[in-house]
Amino acid sequence: MKRDLLTLRDLTVEEIHYLLARARHLKEDWRAGKLEPSLNRKVLGMIFVKPSTRTRVSFEAAMYRLGGQCIFMTEKDSQISRKEPLADMARVLSRYVDAIAVRTFAHDDVEELARFASVPVINGLTDLFHPCQILADLMTIEEKRGSLENLKVAWIGDGNNVAHSWINAAALLGFTLSLACPEGYLPDSAILGRAQSEVPGKILLTQNPRGAAASADVLYTDVWASMGQEEEADARMKVFRGYQINRELLASASPDALVLHCLPAHRGEEITEEVLEGPQSVVFDEAENRLHIQMALLEWLLCGKK
Ligand code: CP
Ligand code: NVA
Repeated sequence: MKRDLLTLRDLTVEEIHYLLARARHLKEDWRAGKLEPSLNRKVLGMIFVKPSTRTRVSFEAAMYRLGGQCIFMTEKDSQISRKEPLADMARVLSRYVDAIAVRTFAHDDVEELARFASVPVINGLTDLFHPCQILADLMTIEEKRGSLENLKVAWIGDGNNVAHSWINAAALLGFTLSLACPEGYLPDSAILGRAQSEVPGKILLTQNPRGAAASADVLYTDVWASMGQEEEADARMKVFRGYQINRELLASASPDALVLHCLPAHRGEEITEEVLEGPQSVVFDEAENRLHIQMALLEWLLCGKK
């Protein structure tokens, strides 16, 4: 039966660890110039309704590096712009391609595509979740720290799609996640409540960034206004002012804390230039790992475990 990745909850803990290990292996093969063309003749269809640099290019590069091909469409290029039902799109595309990666607004839309597609559907970001990003983040943390054991992650900023995927990751893997989010910009209460009930005491919500950052192993942030929220950017700038990862906040974390950001970053807003470019920041390794985890994910969804 085909598998989808719409949220991290589509994976078991064992599958997450498999993907992390496989991505590490593929990264070594890639560095050694020894990647096998395991996706030879496979085709990934991509429907991106929102812009993207990392997600698009890492998926495309992953397919090409493993011997496959991609067909990329924006909303404009496809009949979605003329209201072709997603259920029809899904069934038609399934006749042409081996998997579909989607970036869009409504999470319901990827669910609808997945329901009707007979090939795997991968969520490349919706308003609610960004699961592929967190897989690359976990890979980066494991690589830098050696393990995900006894991990404490602090999320500073908006309770957004990336935060929701971190919440799911904490519920599945059982690490400690402290979210510092301003009133009115908290994570979705159903997503948070479900996760908190699964791992009591592990997922904490505060309005105090210093409290969340205290002794954290990872400080994580994201833009204050996500794609589609451009008109709220000025209002959000005021609300989020105290929720910046800067030298002072970093000083309250563990001395060897890692700083992660999914990128793109707005320097001087959610993170200072000094911290983003500083020695504790691993944002470019994190961005690189999007490629490796995407290779592992595509290989697993299209060909099974190696
Ligand atoms: N982090 C991330 O998803 O970046 P893009 O929007 O460039 O894909
Ligand atoms: N929260 C951001 C993530 C970008 C990768 C957005 O949705 O725009």
